[in-house]
Amino acid sequence: MQTERMTAWFEATASRHSRRVYTAAPVDSETLDTLASACEGFHPYPDARVTLVTEPGTDIFTGVIGSYGKVTGAPHVLCVIVDEDAPFAQQHAGYVGEAAVLEATSLGLGTCWIGGFFDPEKAARLVRLGENERVVAVSPVGIAVDDYSGSERAMRTMSSAHKRKSLERIVPEGTAGWPDWALAAVECARIAPSAVNRQPWRFRMRNRDLLISRDSPIEMPRVTKALDCGIAMLHIQLGALSKGVMGRWEDLAEGPTMARFVPLGEPE
Ligand SMILES: Cc1cc2nc3c(=O)[nH]c(=O)nc-3n(C[C@H](O)[C@H](O)[C@H](O)COP(=O)(O)O)c2cc1C
Repeated sequence: MQTERMTAWFEATASRHSRRVYTAAPVDSETLDTLASACEGFHPYPDARVTLVTEPGTDIFTGVIGSYGKVTGAPHVLCVIVDEDAPFAQQHAGYVGEAAVLEATSLGLGTCWIGGFFDPEKAARLVRLGENERVVAVSPVGIAVDDYSGSERAMRTMSSAHKRKSLERIVPEGTAGWPDWALAAVECARIAPSAVNRQPWRFRMRNRDLLISRDSPIEMPRVTKALDCGIAMLHIQLGALSKGVMGRWEDLAEGPTMARFVPLGEPE
């Protein structure tokens, strides 16, 4: 992955907010091409991918206007696709889906992860799916309206969208003695989006590695915590890189512990 793109994604983590009301104006084709190629070109895992649907031609968003989840006016849609049989596909989907969301943000476009309030059958008809593939989440893409509309404002209040858990909550063992890169990494993960803003991620250091876990071993059926954690995993990598530290994720299946970030190049 190009460091230049990752730097742009890191910057986008601070300005990204979920946007649900769009002007309906199509995005120019050059910008759409850039986003589509970023989706196609970023394929670190065989079991998760993202496709930009430029002309969905149907409303796949099922939320009720005025309540959580209604997206209106979105001219384009990102579909996040998993291989259902692969054990780590959900966290990989969060990782690649968030890359697409941050790429869109860096291009000046609005997005909103939607895991619950979309029609999976309609979404499946928008993309060509392999035998074991399923659309696990979608995002509108477009020009968000300048002012938050009444319904969007109400929704944001309902889910306290901007609020995030304290560092103490998400790092229960504390951060004493942590290197700078790890602190920057968890600060970046803290602002990551999650379903109903539940922030189910917890972090701890083991030797030189940073581990991510779910807040409990209990998974959710429709929108998994693993999907949220995959999003946070990309943010960890971007936060570490902001301090000059590259690294790689290794998946783990150890109870609630989901993966280990192994730093590769720590500056002197
Ligand atoms: C995996 C996932 C699924 C989500 N599903 C929905 C959804 O179905 N409807 C909705 O309105 N928002 C959905 N959201 C958006 C969250 O509510 C939002 O990210 C969170 O409240 C934090 O706000 P922010 O994105 O503005 O930082 C989802 C977010 C994630 C990461």
